[in-house]
Amino acid sequence: MFQCFKLPSLVVIAVLSAASMAQSPKATLRIQVDKPLHSVSPRLYGLMTEEINYSYDGGLYGEMVRNRTFEDHGWAGVAHWNSVHLGNAQANMTVDTAEGPSEALPRSLRVDITQADTEDQAGVRNDGFWGMAVHPDTIYKGSFYAKAGSADVGPMRVSLVNDTSGATVATSTSDGLTTEWKHYEFTLHTGDVQASADNHLQLTLGHQGKVWLSLVSLFPPTYRNRDNGNRIDLMEKLAAMHPKFLRLPGGNYLEGNTVEERFDWKATIGPLVDRPTHRGPWGYQSSDGMGLLEFLEWTEDLKIEPVLAVYAGYSLKGAHVPPGPGLRPYVDDALDEIEFLTGDAATTRWGAIRAKLGHPATFPLSYVEIGNEDSFDLSGSYEGRYQQFYKVIKARYPKLQLIATEPLKQMKPDVVDDHYYKRADEFFGFVKHYDDADRNGPKIFVGEWATREGSPTTNLGAALGDAAWMTSLERNSDLIVMASYAPLFVNVNPGAMQWESDLVGYDALNSYGSPSYYAQAVFAEYLGTEVPASSLIAVPDRFFYSVTCDPKKGVVYLKLVNANSRSQQLEIDLSGAGKSAGSATLVTLRGANPAETNTIAAPARVVPVQTRLEGIGPSFSHTVPAYAIEVLEIPIR
Ligand code: AHR
Repeated sequence: MFQCFKLPSLVVIAVLSAASMAQSPKATLRIQVDKPLHSVSPRLYGLMTEEINYSYDGGLYGEMVRNRTFEDHGWAGVAHWNSVHLGNAQANMTVDTAEGPSEALPRSLRVDITQADTEDQAGVRNDGFWGMAVHPDTIYKGSFYAKAGSADVGPMRVSLVNDTSGATVATSTSDGLTTEWKHYEFTLHTGDVQASADNHLQLTLGHQGKVWLSLVSLFPPTYRNRDNGNRIDLMEKLAAMHPKFLRLPGGNYLEGNTVEERFDWKATIGPLVDRPTHRGPWGYQSSDGMGLLEFLEWTEDLKIEPVLAVYAGYSLKGAHVPPGPGLRPYVDDALDEIEFLTGDAATTRWGAIRAKLGHPATFPLSYVEIGNEDSFDLSGSYEGRYQQFYKVIKARYPKLQLIATEPLKQMKPDVVDDHYYKRADEFFGFVKHYDDADRNGPKIFVGEWATREGSPTTNLGAALGDAAWMTSLERNSDLIVMASYAPLFVNVNPGAMQWESDLVGYDALNSYGSPSYYAQAVFAEYLGTEVPASSLIAVPDRFFYSVTCDPKKGVVYLKLVNANSRSQQLEIDLSGAGKSAGSATLVTLRGANPAETNTIAAPARVVPVQTRLEGIGPSFSHTVPAYAIEVLEIPIR
């Protein structure tokens, strides 16, 4: 019979945990390390993403220029752009809908300069996404498309300028503009400046004349130096979550408010100038700089698998495409999309296109989700739509697991995606939900879940709800193949948030993880491959645990969640094991009360603290502090 570990009969007491004054009566946790119940899903924890709360534009996607193709309008005309006239220079700007650099981008910003000279230049400025973050001694890469009314307007001066001092932080000059649309690239190198988000980008000319601008872009250094890439700090935060997959591209963002506003993946690949951009369902235009290939490169950079959600003929305002011939083009789009990820570069059409776009290698793909939250489709068409996608996709890709977004009556889907947004108390009462679920039914993907307490990011109380829920995900990880929290990101600037209670917050300059973020990071980092039998006797209310073990590494991972105001003493019995290494790693995430949280100004109030527990044996006492999430990594030799 399988035996996870061996412990000696040595009994040592570990007392490193700080007990608070008030304690609940002692409980006994028995872990039968020699009795594995089932394996842990190798993909249990992952990420869910969509364009919400300025997650990509103004978030992960490194672009610093806001409204770079001029679709957004503010009270005073084109949003986030203003004219600049230094000294006595004069300029006006307006959106020209008849002049653009490409078919996809038929509009531009027309700038009429009536007075300017080399010293007193005129042009336009962009405010960025609540500012532009500038760091000392850093190279920023930029570009723009421009066309001049006459050949004598000269070169464009491009500068990063501090908002409050007006000082130029970095500057560069382009080649002279021509009367044809042309792409110009530039770099801006900052010197010994103070890091700040109070900066804007300025484009000016030293000559009177007309100029049209489009796709003005500026990027900081990006994660793994990718062109058109992602913010380094946010990617590092995601990597630290130890995810195994990325569910993309939504969420509601997949569906769009209307069929036309769905995530039309073919319009998001290729050169940026050929991407028309689109209106997202969360109230703002998406630049689509984060297109399908960029999503996939994001998974590649984190060494994780995409879970690809394909548009399935239902959009948020209720439009649906009934199953049948009318749905076939959307099924074909999904087939093409799967081929774009997995098709051989030499022998398939979309594989060749992927290669032409710079990525000859295929991407791994095991799961494809058909739609999103189709229980909202009151026409009842989902059953038929899923079946149509299923039949065609399975015929070509029999190994793919196809996820349904609601349980079906007429067939058993491979996997069903369940979503849960709850308060902490609700999650505490919900943790047994899957314990008795049918093991012969479809597998479960908990594709969106979150304890919704705290705003813009969640607090410790929410992290306790999350951790309680994650103990049930682990306990039921024979049934639950994957789980991902949502939403992942929020820009914390006023007006940026559409959905309260998010995982990771940021502004242009800084970012931080919520207590929920840290709870997930430690749960995913310390996860075994098997769930052994266990029982908790004299279990108090609001106390949760999960145990996994990794026989290859010789480790037991014990997660303890105390959502009580009293500390909890535990007698832990690692029965059936052999020999202990005598000490364990203890990671504690705790606070004085559930309202404690992290913010952009105080990002590290509730963070995990790692210590060592000495003298671990086959049975030992341990006290879990009040309002605490703990992970014990217990090596067993
Ligand atoms: O996570 C926010 C939204 O919640 C998602 O877009 C949608 O799928 C769900 O209703």
